[in-house]
Amino acid sequence: MDQILNVLPTSKTAHPDMNVLKEIRKQSLENPEAFWQRFADELFWYEKNGPVYQPIDEPPYARWFPLWKTNISYNALDRNVSSWRKNKVALYWESEDGYRRTMTFYDLYKEVNKFASVLKSLGVSKGDRVTVYMPMIPELVVSLLALTRIGAIHSVIFAGFTSQAIADRVNDSCSKLIITSDVAYRRGKEIPVKDIVDEALRHTSTVEKVLVVQRGSGEVEMVEDRDIWYHDLMGSAESYVEPERLEGTFPSFILYTSGTTGKPKGATHGTAGYMVWSYFTQKLVFDVNDRDIYWCTADIGWITGHTYVVYGPLISGVTSLIYEGAPDYPRPDRWWDIVERYGVTIFYTSPTSIRMHMKFGEEWTKSHDLSSLRILGTVGEPINPEAWNWYYTHIGRQKAPIVDTWWQTETGGIMIAPQPGLAPIPLKPGSATFPLPGVDAEVYTEDGRVAAPNEKGLLVIRKPWPGQFMTLWGDPERFKSAYFTRFPGCYYPGDFAMKDEDGYFWLLGRADEVLKVAGHRIGTIELEDSLISHPAVAESAVVGKSDPIKMQVPVAFVVLRPGHMPSPQLRIELINHIRGTIGPVAAPESVYFVEKLPKTRSGKIMRRVIAAVVEDRPIGDITTIEDEASVDEVRRAYEELKMELRMRE
Ligand code: WT7
Repeated sequence: MDQILNVLPTSKTAHPDMNVLKEIRKQSLENPEAFWQRFADELFWYEKNGPVYQPIDEPPYARWFPLWKTNISYNALDRNVSSWRKNKVALYWESEDGYRRTMTFYDLYKEVNKFASVLKSLGVSKGDRVTVYMPMIPELVVSLLALTRIGAIHSVIFAGFTSQAIADRVNDSCSKLIITSDVAYRRGKEIPVKDIVDEALRHTSTVEKVLVVQRGSGEVEMVEDRDIWYHDLMGSAESYVEPERLEGTFPSFILYTSGTTGKPKGATHGTAGYMVWSYFTQKLVFDVNDRDIYWCTADIGWITGHTYVVYGPLISGVTSLIYEGAPDYPRPDRWWDIVERYGVTIFYTSPTSIRMHMKFGEEWTKSHDLSSLRILGTVGEPINPEAWNWYYTHIGRQKAPIVDTWWQTETGGIMIAPQPGLAPIPLKPGSATFPLPGVDAEVYTEDGRVAAPNEKGLLVIRKPWPGQFMTLWGDPERFKSAYFTRFPGCYYPGDFAMKDEDGYFWLLGRADEVLKVAGHRIGTIELEDSLISHPAVAESAVVGKSDPIKMQVPVAFVVLRPGHMPSPQLRIELINHIRGTIGPVAAPESVYFVEKLPKTRSGKIMRRVIAAVVEDRPIGDITTIEDEASVDEVRRAYEELKMELRMRE
């Protein structure tokens, strides 16, 4: 684990000595006011009144730029359009079937202004919530920037989610408008996006209008007085909309993420702190410059796409690439083909994707010239050293450093990572290295003591940072209890971590009942709730099982209601039930039928015990268990199905 690679700074402006990092971080934590003022000054503000940083007594313990006024869309577009970057490429878009579209900052600026005017004409104004459910097409970027331009709060829902997930989120945010498309394309197949939205709208009451972007043939049913084609309104739209002058803490977006209850959490970000953080981290970690062709493969439906496909690159004036489709379509080298054709210089993806490409085999990379790549990034889960080395060798050809970036939906942007824009950090495969300036990360033991070197503990962030989310939409109490009570005064991200003898951070996975499936956060309780909503299920417990590619996959144990019998058909039906209620990303690998679940005497399901069986680990302490036979039950069900599957192979 301690393989150390000396990586030189890739930036001409970077400091050659790594010790400078410590010094800069110290300054940033001791005097946040002066430190962040310096970076904020690189951006545009309508007003700079009052403090940069205002400590408060309760979570999140600070407000950033509370009285300053700015607009994110202005900073991403107008600021670049008024410079020499006006006709620089802002977006390269490539469809799955190979069609290409190039948009300069000026093109994007014009389209965003027009769309902002359309939104205003439909009565959308500052503070309104708008749900966006769309595939990876340029209009998705246009939508986000048009919404932030007029101060409307966007709630993007990943296009792989189901109508029920849309309905829940629309109802929680009380969205008055939905922006969507007729269809999407994935692996050559057409996905009926608009139909999914129509179904969702049968369970909501706040949505007044549905704006539909035409991606396919446009043959969808349009509900009169509710559904409107995007292109019908854009033709007659105004060409300029004055951006709203938003106060620093005004909410810019809500992004729903899984937690430890059945209800997703609406992480709500502000305006100024988020903007400064996305800009600052984009520069520091990816060391972007005007010659770069930058590609983050994440879907805009997740936080990585918000910050590092849309806001970070555009605010930094960087050319960003968007690819619509599947990574292995039509062949496993589609990504490497794109890197070669556009001369991508910075590439950011997930460990799951890397492991998938490892499985396809390096022969798919060999026929492509990948020498343009100078920085590689990963995010979403811990990266195993094998995947790290494969990425470093076959994609980076041992020349591009890997920035392993730890962060979360809630943190707005990268928190712990190598910082080639600042100084060289010798890399250790599997370690995200050191916290960024402004990030007071530490590892605590269960009882709140600073962990010793190499002692596994829990990650905490002890001081506010500009990118921090401001609340959970409509649920300030859960905001406090989920994140700020575990260790008083600290932000608790819910991750295991360790610091080694050199002070390197190793992020070791979730410490709560949230799984990481192919980099996505899946709450086990959400899956259990979904299963219980099926008429055959009385009780259920969902745990994670290690998976060589996805890192974890959910497996479910269920107790049936009287009158229902276990059967392979019912098993498939239950898996499809989860696909239908939450989405395919959450589908369990299998469902096991048991008579009873291991529980404590107070009735709490002992998921830890079930997980141990599934992972073939020692069960550990079960003195609190109500009925020891339940463990054998779980073991029997698990062994039986494994056997059955093996026989079928
Ligand atoms: C969780 C956050 C941040 C954008 C994508 C996921 C895990 C994230 C790493 C990393 C180890 C990581 C953590 C974290 N995670 N990056 N580099 N090394 N673990 O965002 O869905 O909010 O998930 O992803 O467990 O808490 P998210």
